[in-house]
Formats: sequence, structure tokens, C-alpha cells
Amino acid sequence: MAYERDNIRSLSPYVPGEQPVDAKVVKLNTNENPYPPVPGVLEAIAAVGPDGLRRYPSPTADGFRRIAAETHDMEPGQVIATNGGDELLRLAFTVFCDPNGDQGAGGVGETWPTYSLYDVLARIHDTPIVRMPLEDDWAIPQSFASQLNEAGCRLAIVVSPHAPSGRYESADRLRQIATEFNGVLLIDEAYVDFARLDALELIRGNGALDNVLLLRTLSKGYSLAGLRFGYGLGHRNLIEILDKARDSYNTDALSQAAAAAALKGREQARMNCEKVVQERRRVGDELARLGWWVWPSDTNFILTKPPESGQNAKETYESLKREGIFVRYFDQDRLRDKLRITIGSPEQNDTLLRVLTARV
Ligand SMILES: Cc1ncc(COP(=O)(O)O)c(C=O)c1O
Repeated sequence: MAYERDNIRSLSPYVPGEQPVDAKVVKLNTNENPYPPVPGVLEAIAAVGPDGLRRYPSPTADGFRRIAAETHDMEPGQVIATNGGDELLRLAFTVFCDPNGDQGAGGVGETWPTYSLYDVLARIHDTPIVRMPLEDDWAIPQSFASQLNEAGCRLAIVVSPHAPSGRYESADRLRQIATEFNGVLLIDEAYVDFARLDALELIRGNGALDNVLLLRTLSKGYSLAGLRFGYGLGHRNLIEILDKARDSYNTDALSQAAAAAALKGREQARMNCEKVVQERRRVGDELARLGWWVWPSDTNFILTKPPESGQNAKETYESLKREGIFVRYFDQDRLRDKLRITIGSPEQNDTLLRVLTARV
């Protein structure tokens, strides 16, 4: 006897990057930050104390929202705290998309390839998905917004900087899309802490748009993937609506305290991001010297293609794994000849480069 809905029965669940238990593995496969979180984070967790655990936390993570608002020069009512950026995505589907199966209007529009969780969440919600292939240089197609409107999409999700290519999309281009689109544009800025600029100007000050939602996470730039804390930024009305559909206590006392401390220590975290950016340049240059094709990146990873003369991407992924170096391989169109490599610590990057140099 099957009890589940049809769409759940046929669902292919999200496949996360491998999480090896062996601490010796050079782990360059899930875009974690190689540096530890700022010391204030651990102090804040220790300071929560028995009462902080005995009681329910602030349902709306008020302490965190105040600091996030201050950080971005916005109002607390323009911030929603979530259990990782992933929860914000799930909330956006719940709030904006119609669950009318894989046909018709009311669904989500996305560019392709993209973060594969979007599709999984759309299928769980049972909402139509409209996919538009990115241009050869990973740019969003000019017709994106008009195609979204034609298909009657309620929500569109773009990643900027883009995963898995690393491409940075300008705020002007994103504004053009949001202005033309008749639904909500969610800009997934999971990797923005490693980018030259962000899209905050779309939701702040004169010219702020009421249909743009920014996704932020503490997993990457703040070295807190294990904490599960993210947040959304946008127009007060959008945030209010999302807040209605949130779990009653979606973020816990420990993570609220830690996340607030992380934002307070943002200058220190930024220095770590800067080190990652410097290493990104070095690793990219070295790979190019070894004959690899390297796409420009504004993230903490690079998308790269091994030279024709040697092992292909899949073989390289497998052989690196045998040597204890994990990178990411995606067996899908446009990506199966490439690898996505997270920028690690200088020592981890040296290990990778040493192994690849020895093969030339
Ligand atoms: C593009 C993108 N968006 C969002 C997320 C969600 O991050 P988290 O749920 O860890 O905050 C990730 C995580 O890898 C990501 O790659």
C-alpha cells in the first residue's frame, strides 16, 4: 500500500555532495569555507546557557534581524531568518507557486543549469517548472523575463553569482529582469560574500523594487554550513507574507545567537573571504597553466574543464577521489565535461595542484 502523493513517489531527491568522515580528505566538493567561523560565534553559543535552552527562542529571530538590518542598512521588517538558505527557497515555493502539477501556469522559472535543489523543491510542491538554458557564457538569456511572463510563472529564481559557473550577473541586468517580470524574482546570493558587488540596490533606497527577494546564507562567507542559518531580504510586504508560512520556531536559540555574532564579526569574516578570493586567482592561474579551461568566478569555487589530452572530467574526479581529494562532478548536460572545485586552504589547494601537475 502506498500512502504518499504521486509526485513524491516519482521524486528523485536532492543529492548532496559527499561528506566523507575521514578528516584527512582534501574536501573541495561542497563549497565550504576553509577558515573557522569568527571566535565570537563560539562565545555566543556558550553564552546561551540553560535558560536559553529551556525557553522557546524568539519566533522571528528578532535579535538577529536587528543586526542583519543594521548590517545592510535596512529595517528589521525587511529581513526573515531561515533554517539555512534552503528553507527560504522552500518557503518561496509555498508562498508564491500554485501546486497544480506539471502543467499550466503559476509555477517557477529558472535558468539551466542551476542549483539542483530548486527542481526538487518545485517537484515536492508539485508546481510547474519552466527551464531556460543559459547562454554559452552562462549569461541569463535576454528573453528570460518575457518567457517567464508568457508561461505565467509566479516565481523566478536566479543565482548570482551563479552556481555552478561562478558568473557574476550585474545588478542592472537583474533589475531589468525584475522590472519586466510579473512575479517575484528570487536572487540567490549564497556566494555573494566572494563577489565584487551585490544586488542590494534592487531592494534598498530610491528605486527599490517590491518583487525582489535576496537569499543570503551564513554557510559560505561566514564558515557556518553546520549551523543551518540563512535569511531573506526584501520589501516589507514580501517578508510579511513569507513570515506567515514559516514554521513557528524555524530557527533555534543557539543558531540565532551564533548567527547574530557572526554578522557582528563580519569584518573578520570578510578578511577570510578575501583570502579565499586570492587563492581562487592563484588556483585558477595554475590550472590554466596546466592547460585547464577556467571560467571567471565570483564565488568560492571554480568551474573548470580538464585539457583534452589527459583524463576526462569524470575520470579525473574518480582518480582524485582515490587520492583523497574530493571535487564535484555533475553528470548532466553542459557539465559532464567539467569539474567544480571549491577553493580550500592554501595547503589543500597546493595538494590538489601538486597532484595535477604530476600528471602533466
Ligand atoms: C546556490 C545555492 N543556494 C543556496 C544554498 C543553500 O545554502 P544553505 O542552505 O546552506 O544556507 C546553496 C548551498 O550550497 C547553494 O549552492
